[in-house]
Amino acid sequence: MTRPTLTLAQGAKATRILGVGSTQPDRIVTNDELSQHMDTNDQWIRDRVGIVERRFAADDERLVDMAVTAGAKALADAGVAPSEVDTVIVPNCTLPAPIPNAAAQVADRIGIRSAGAFDLNAACAGFCYGLGVASDLVRAGSAKKVLVIGAEKLTDVVDPTDRSTAIIFADGAGAALVGPSDEPGIGPVAWGSAGDLVDLIYMRDNRYIFQEGQPVFRWATTQIAPIAMRAVELAGLELSDIDVLIPHQANLRIVEAIAKRLRAKGAREDLVVADDIRYSGNTSSASIPMALDHMRAAGTVKRGDVVLTVGFGAGLSYAGQVLVCP
Ligand code: UT7
Repeated sequence: MTRPTLTLAQGAKATRILGVGSTQPDRIVTNDELSQHMDTNDQWIRDRVGIVERRFAADDERLVDMAVTAGAKALADAGVAPSEVDTVIVPNCTLPAPIPNAAAQVADRIGIRSAGAFDLNAACAGFCYGLGVASDLVRAGSAKKVLVIGAEKLTDVVDPTDRSTAIIFADGAGAALVGPSDEPGIGPVAWGSAGDLVDLIYMRDNRYIFQEGQPVFRWATTQIAPIAMRAVELAGLELSDIDVLIPHQANLRIVEAIAKRLRAKGAREDLVVADDIRYSGNTSSASIPMALDHMRAAGTVKRGDVVLTVGFGAGLSYAGQVLVCP
């Protein structure tokens, strides 16, 4: 008896980002405001982290709400109707409870019916992981258009008196719609993890994020530039081809250290480097798509620019890829 042969889906030969969108809570929190609750000050935060202000969500403003707003904006930006989208991925690490996931609710509220929907937790690397998975789903033929929304409400999991986290983390969401393309617009993902360093960032007593700031800082400033370089190599490009660098907005000094290393290896002096952390804080899996959206609105990133992203954080997990700005 001959066994039946399975039929495989036929995917797109290449993918690109069709549209982006983001949202932030209305409430602006200055460094001076934080210094009223803990032993810190505006100058220290600006000098050591680069943050001028950040946004905190209201009590009734949920991660899912921010994801819906950012995702809907990405669809509008792409000019794509919800009915054309079949898959929703919500990278996040701050949903208050693991059940139900965010993605199914977000899909339903945006009007994407019967969507394949799942959350993805790679902490601050989540958006790059999600973008890599979305691109491969479309190339494999498993999905036609995938909405990837990095969304976080970090204020739910930050001890407001812990000055190593409370001055850094903030809330927001950023989204990208991924679909088929004639020309490659999303390069292969370079990803990995260092689970032996898991104790450097974790949820203490299942309640608040704890991080060993200095070791994480050292790890990020030494180990992440090589990942970014690997993403460029996988895309078949040279560092000098990169117009814009958007690392996870963890700390402006980390961002600048990564840029410096890449320039030493051939990146251009006129490389545009994201500094969205100044007015957004560290929003974990939302930081990269939010920075891309803000930079595009400001005109610092233009359609067709070659953008290098790299995310890194708890896990420790990291991922990066080259993409073309829509
Ligand atoms: O997104 C997920 C991945 N996370 C990261 O990438 C975070 C990486 N780490 C960092 O960004 C930094 O380590 C922190 C921002 C968390 C801390 O900055 P730091 O420059 O590493 O500070 P430190 O802990 O080495 O402390 C330096 C000094 C100390 O004073 P002395 O002992 O030198 O007198 C601290 O007591 O700064 C003091 N300090 C502060 N002062 C005012 C530490 N935190 C604060 C603060 N405000 N918030």
